[in-house]
Amino acid sequence: MLIKSANFIISNTEVAKCPKESIPEYAFIGRSNVGKSSLINMLTQRKSLAKTSGRPGKTQLINHFKINENWFLVDLPGYGYAKVSKKDKKTFQKYITNYFVQREQLVCSFVLVDIRHNPQKIDMEFMQWLGENQIPFCIIFTKADKLKPKAIEKNVNAYLKELTTSIWEEAPQHFITSSSKNIGRDQVLEFISAINNDFYQHRKKTF
Ligand code: GTP
Ligand code: MG
Repeated sequence: MLIKSANFIISNTEVAKCPKESIPEYAFIGRSNVGKSSLINMLTQRKSLAKTSGRPGKTQLINHFKINENWFLVDLPGYGYAKVSKKDKKTFQKYITNYFVQREQLVCSFVLVDIRHNPQKIDMEFMQWLGENQIPFCIIFTKADKLKPKAIEKNVNAYLKELTTSIWEEAPQHFITSSSKNIGRDQVLEFISAINNDFYQHRKKTF
C-alpha cells in the first residue's frame, strides 16, 4: 500500500471526543517504550508524525492519525510504566479500556512486544482481556534489529508457544518488525490494506 497522506487529527482522553467518521481504525498498544510511536512513523514513512522518546511514558493520550484520507492509525500510551502514580494508572486504565470497548471503528489492534523479552504477565493479561472482550488483535514483535535471525526465530516460537499453552488454542497472527531497519513494513501494510478493502467493499454492497 502506498502512503499518500498521513495527518495528525486530534489527541484526547475521551473516546466520545474521538473522530466521528466511520472509517477503519487500527490501534497500537503495548508496554511503554516498546516502540509504538516509532512503528507508526516507520509505517507512514514520516519521521516525526508520532512523538517518540528514549524515556518511557512519552505518549500520554489517544492520538488519531488519518492515512490516505480513508483510515486511522491510533497511537496510545504504554502500559506498565512503573513511575506513574496509582491515581494516574487508574485514570489511564479507565480511558484506555473505554477506548477499546466503545470504539466501534476499531477493526484491529496491534499489541506490540519487544522481541528480546520473554512473555510478560502484563502483556498476557492484556491480550486475554482483549480476547474476553472480543476485540480482534495481532501481535507485533518490535526491535528485530536487536537480534540475529536465529534468535528471532527462537524467541518468536517460544512466545507463540507460551500463548498457545496458557491462553489460546491458536496463536494470534503476528508480524516481526524493526522501525530502525524498516523490517515488516510491507507485511503490516498489506494486512491493513486487505481489511480496508473488505470494509469498503462490504460498505458498497450495503448502500
Ligand atoms: P511510550 O509512548 O512511552 O509508551 O513509548 P513507545 O512505545 O511509543 O516507544 P517509542 O516509539 O517512543 O520508542 C521508544 C524507544 O525505542 C526510542 O528510543 C526508539 O528509538 C526505540 N525504538 C523504537 N523502535 C525501535 C526499533 O525498531 N529498533 C530499535 N533499535 N530501537 C527502537
Ligand atoms: Mg509512544
